Amino acid sequence: MKFLHSDTHTLLKGTKRPKPNLSSMNTQNLISLILILFIPFSVSISPIDNVLLSCGSHNNASLYDRVFIGDSTHPGSTFLSADDSISLAYQKPPQNLPSLYHTARVFRSTGRYKFNMKKNGTHFVRFHFFPFKAQNFYLKPAKFSVFVNGVSVLSNFQPPNDVLLKEFILKIESNLLEILFRPVGDTGFAFVNALEVFTAPVDFIIDFGARSVGPSGVAEYKNLSFQVLETVHRINVGGLKITPFNDTLWRTWIPDEDYLMFKDAAKPAVSTHTPNYQKGGATREIAPENVYMTAQQMNRENSSLASRFNITWNFPVTPGVAPFLVRLHFCDIVSPALNLLYFDVYINGYIAYKDLDLSALTIHTLASPVYLDFITNSGDSGFVQVSVGPSELSSSIRMNAILNGAEIMEMVNDVGTNVVHRRKNLWILLGSIVGGIVVLFLVVMAFLFGTKCRNKKPKQRTVESVGWTPLSMFGGSSLSRSSEPGSHGLLGLKIPFAEIQSATNNFDRNLIVGSGGFGMVYKGVLRDNVKVAVKRGMPGSRQGLPEFQTEITVLSKIRHRHLVSLVGFCEENSEMILVYEYVEKGPLKKHLYGSSLQTPLSWKQRLEICIGAARGLHYLHTGFAQGIIHRDIKSTNILLDENYVAKVADFGLSRSGPCINETHVSTNVKGSFGYVDPEYYRRQQLTDKSDVYSFGVVLFEVLCGRPAVDPQLAREQVNLAEWALEWLKKGMLEQIVDPRLVGQIQQSSLKKFCENAEKCLAEYGVDRPAMGDVLWNLEYALQLQESGQQREPHANSSDNEAVSVTNTVIPQNPFANTRAERDYDNFPSDVSTSQVFSQLMNNEGR
Ligand SMILES: *[C@@H]1O[C@H](CO)[C@@H](O)[C@H](O)[C@H]1NC(C)=O
Ligand SMILES: *[C@@H]1O[C@H](CO)[C@@H](O)[C@H](O)[C@H]1NC(C)=O
Repeated sequence: MKFLHSDTHTLLKGTKRPKPNLSSMNTQNLISLILILFIPFSVSISPIDNVLLSCGSHNNASLYDRVFIGDSTHPGSTFLSADDSISLAYQKPPQNLPSLYHTARVFRSTGRYKFNMKKNGTHFVRFHFFPFKAQNFYLKPAKFSVFVNGVSVLSNFQPPNDVLLKEFILKIESNLLEILFRPVGDTGFAFVNALEVFTAPVDFIIDFGARSVGPSGVAEYKNLSFQVLETVHRINVGGLKITPFNDTLWRTWIPDEDYLMFKDAAKPAVSTHTPNYQKGGATREIAPENVYMTAQQMNRENSSLASRFNITWNFPVTPGVAPFLVRLHFCDIVSPALNLLYFDVYINGYIAYKDLDLSALTIHTLASPVYLDFITNSGDSGFVQVSVGPSELSSSIRMNAILNGAEIMEMVNDVGTNVVHRRKNLWILLGSIVGGIVVLFLVVMAFLFGTKCRNKKPKQRTVESVGWTPLSMFGGSSLSRSSEPGSHGLLGLKIPFAEIQSATNNFDRNLIVGSGGFGMVYKGVLRDNVKVAVKRGMPGSRQGLPEFQTEITVLSKIRHRHLVSLVGFCEENSEMILVYEYVEKGPLKKHLYGSSLQTPLSWKQRLEICIGAARGLHYLHTGFAQGIIHRDIKSTNILLDENYVAKVADFGLSRSGPCINETHVSTNVKGSFGYVDPEYYRRQQLTDKSDVYSFGVVLFEVLCGRPAVDPQLAREQVNLAEWALEWLKKGMLEQIVDPRLVGQIQQSSLKKFCENAEKCLAEYGVDRPAMGDVLWNLEYALQLQESGQQREPHANSSDNEAVSVTNTVIPQNPFANTRAERDYDNFPSDVSTSQVFSQLMNNEGR
């Protein structure tokens, strides 16, 4: 089913029909009426089920360009069955009252509407109430209950003295929909002015990803789509009221000011650009552009406030036991670049999302809409409280927190566990089937690529021989826990959820060591005392599953000193957990700059780290795992162990190339801002040279001790790659070197290093060296550094002498291409080249 995205108006105008002339109503009119009611106006642009009824009326009425059909247009109409019901009309309605509220159907005993449904699944059901006064009948004293397919949605309801819209979002699982009105008490009666029932967009409410928030922490919440939800608040934070004209699902969003606890804490943010809706994030149906184009952010100019504070909203709700769905909408319209905004989200005072990094939830584009679902109980407090505030990870200058929209929905009918249980089994079955199909596809693809690669390099291990038993692995899907007969290979890496729980002290927040697109990373200790990093898939990260699977397949195939190795994984209870070796000293970035920087790394250490990382990457590109492109090389993905040995991490974005040197066309560019290969961006073509580019950026980061992107700096300095190349062109590279390195670097070493980095950043992939060349040149730079240092005490030799030309016969660099060979011209005499090569050899594809 498709919803209209950009032009609601044409759609609605297109659906407008001339008012039927009732006096001449004939069979043909009746048929067309029924067609209008039950057949979608146009399958491609409107909801499949779309019932709009003006109750108690002989005429059609329109509201926001939508036509509501009179429910009395034909006395024999089949959808209404009531023994004692009357049509009531407002004699002298106020001028500005929409015609929809000029009539009402009144039920003096139980009455029902029945509609044929075309599609099962989540639907919107809306009731319009306006208790007007007809000649001798006042609607205000009405008291009644309403049931939708037997589920009580309104009980003992008394409409207020104004137009009221009640909206429910619920799953309809039968092709007949019955809406029943039951008056309360002997003299009671029920009424309704209008009804809407329409199919919700696919995935409007999904069962995966909601998190329940409360005193015992955050947990996954399942089966959300089986709940009957009543919309209580729908808020456009920081913006104006949005009317149904501007919303593809004809919703009204109201401003947040009245709910702000402390108005001075917040400051509206407005974007003039339309948001970048991305696959995996929110859609226009989840919330329209206007919601994502405004937000409230921290009002940091208000000097009466402490530097760290929350923005808090209190949304009044009915006190009681019913849980609430709190859907929060976010779109980073305040940051100049990605990965600068980190904040915490609290609901009812409990942490709901720590260190939320919006850039990590979407496909690395700024201003990309996302939403997060939380479930909370408010008890007797009478409100749902939402707070956002800066996270510990945010830098003091960048401290901020935002919210773009909020929806509060009450779960009016907590679905019984039996039902849930039955459904779950069905889902498991479905999951297995779908999983099976996916796996079959994966197996076929893997086999095809496997054979293809094998043809090139016969020694290569193929997918089958890794002991892949994919059907039992993914076929059971994340929902099934059936035992896998004959587990080998990947299955040997399975770790029971219970063990992970105990390793991480049940995901103790104090053990969180990081967070990323995939979710939180916890430090843990397994039963055998092995220290591990536990990466737990974030339910909110909807793009997680493919990456989880990629990571397992990729990581299980490779073991290398300079690659973080996978210890195991867990997919019980629809969890997606990856367990890695723990790398003690964390990301390289932390050792280069920033507030947590303690002892700066020496130049030699930096070179060794770069060499290690280059080895890891070279292995990924050419080693026996073959043709893996990392796709997200950056200084946070290079980790250091206790001895400062570099280990490349995070293959969540990696993708096995078909075979090396073949290019890969991908549909969306992944990677991190400031590191992404411009050619990849332009042509969306992925090659191993894209990694080389990103690595070039890392090399400059290491040299200059500053981030790849630093929006605090002057415009021409923001992007490290551009800035560094500029200085290199001027021949003044000393100017940009990390001040902490002053006096340490041999001129020749620096020169070699910079040439190398510069080549990595070549505009076109073909002009960039292969990873093997990069590695070679780094080794060379290290040798130049060390030889220079050794000589220093004896002679005050100039750097030119250190790189003097000699007659030594230089062995061939096995990875050299023509560009690298130029370097042989100045090979120094005192460098043990054979040592360099033996290292290169030994480290290849171990
Ligand atoms: C909402 O729609 C109306 C009617 O098309 C339009 O004039 C108005 O500018 C829209 N408002 C916003 C905030 O986009
Ligand atoms: C923000 O609100 C939460 C929950 O009420 C509280 O725990 C936290 O300390 C607050 N943060 C600040 C900076 O006030």
